[in-house]
Order: sequence, then structure tokens, then C-alpha cells
Amino acid sequence: MGLIGSLYRSSVGKKSFMAASGLLLSLFLLTHLIGNSISFWGREAYNTYAEKLHSLGVMVYLFELGLLALFLLHIITGIFLYFENLRARPARYAVNTSEGGRSWGSRTMPYTGVIILVFIIVHLMNFHFIEKTTPVSDLVRNLLSRPGLGLFYIFALLAVALHLSHGVWSLFQTIGLNHEKYNGLLLKGSLIFSILVGTVFILIPLLAIFSRSFLL
Ligand code: HEM
Repeated sequence: MGLIGSLYRSSVGKKSFMAASGLLLSLFLLTHLIGNSISFWGREAYNTYAEKLHSLGVMVYLFELGLLALFLLHIITGIFLYFENLRARPARYAVNTSEGGRSWGSRTMPYTGVIILVFIIVHLMNFHFIEKTTPVSDLVRNLLSRPGLGLFYIFALLAVALHLSHGVWSLFQTIGLNHEKYNGLLLKGSLIFSILVGTVFILIPLLAIFSRSFLL
């Protein structure tokens, strides 16, 4: 704990925790995206996938505990770094001038972070903390076809994409992948990844609202 504690107290250490938790959360998001994109293959495929996932039993609980710990670490470290940045405000502009350092994504990080937190709470109330009596396909279609909730999902998923566009770039910087020659490529890669994740996720509420046959 001593080494980890002193690492956490330093700004560079906090950035490393942010990067490591961000990387693992992005991997979760990618698997969640792949899992949910099975909904495009119809209700049977989607329900079979959900049942398979639930049949993993105690593994699912362990996974959820790990996920909760990662979210908490990422949020709490983000809050610490936000206030550290505010205190060092004059220095902040001098340091962060690399390509991709200042962007729409970077400027809105704290706000998109808060939107994602609200989204996750609503999302868990919608799909997780419920009595699972209906097939997951009906749940997704019934809830996301409500225009108000569907539009909230689309808005929040745009925030997820914006957050990822800077987060993934920043992750590369923290792990030392910072070279004039590759920075343009890394920036493009982060952007493409975030647009891809946002687009595929947003297709789900869009189809639930506008398609007559989605998940039926
Ligand atoms: C349209 C997009 C999405 C759909 C349709 C969707 C669907 C679902 C469903 C059906 C579950 C419940 C799984 C179950 O217990 O059977 C779930 C759980 C969850 N989702 Fe999503 N999700 C979406 C986007 C997201 C995003 C963008 C995030 C994170 C930012 C997220 C985070 C979570 C978390 C943390 C859980 C709980 C994990 C667990 O129970 O193991 N979801 N989602």
C-alpha cells in the first residue's frame, strides 16, 4: 500500500491510475458494444447472448464488482486531477500544447464525465436493478423506443464518444506513446474509435424509435 499510496499522491501517478482504469473501462465498453450489436441480428440471437452471459453465475458478480471498483477509481481520480488542474491553472496552458492536447473532447472532459455518470445511474436502473422477468430484447425495445428516454440515450452516447475521443488519445500520451511522427496517427485512431463506438451504440435507440421490426 505504501508504494501505491505515494504513487497515487503524485500527479503523474494519478494520471497513470486514470489511464489504466480508462483502458480497462474502454475494453469493457468494447465488449459491451459487441454484445449489444448482436441485437442487429434479431431478438433470438440477442436473448441467447444475454442468457449465456447470465449463466456464468458467480463470475458475473465478480466481474461487476471489478467494474464498480474501476468506475469509482476513475471518477475519484478524475475529481482529484480536475481540482489539481484548477489550482495549477496558469501552468496548465503552458504545458498542454501538443497536437490533440486542446480539443472539443479535452475541454469538455469534466462535463461529459458527469453526463456519463448520470447516464450509467439511469442505465442501471433501466436494465440492471430490475426484476428480470421479460426477455432482454423486449426490455431494450420497450424502453428505448420511448422518444424521451431514447433521445436521452442518444445525447449521453454522444457524450461517451466525445469523452472517448480525448480519453483514448490522453491514454496513449500517459503510457509514453508520444512521438511527433505518430501523434497524427494516434489522434486519428482515437477519433475513429470513438466515432465507431458512438455510432454503433446510437444505432440501437435510433432503431428502437424508428424501426417497426427491430427486436420483434
Ligand atoms: C444503446 C446502448 C446500450 C444498450 C442497449 C445497453 C444494454 C445493456 C443491458 C441490456 C444491460 C443489462 C445486462 C444484464 O444484466 O442482462 C446493460 C448493463 C450495463 N451497461 Fe449497458 N447498454 C448500452 C450502453 C452502455 C454504455 C455506453 C455504458 C457505459 C458507459 C454501459 C454500461 C453498462 C454497465 C456498467 C452495465 C452493468 C454491467 C453488468 O450488469 O454486468 N452501457 N447494458
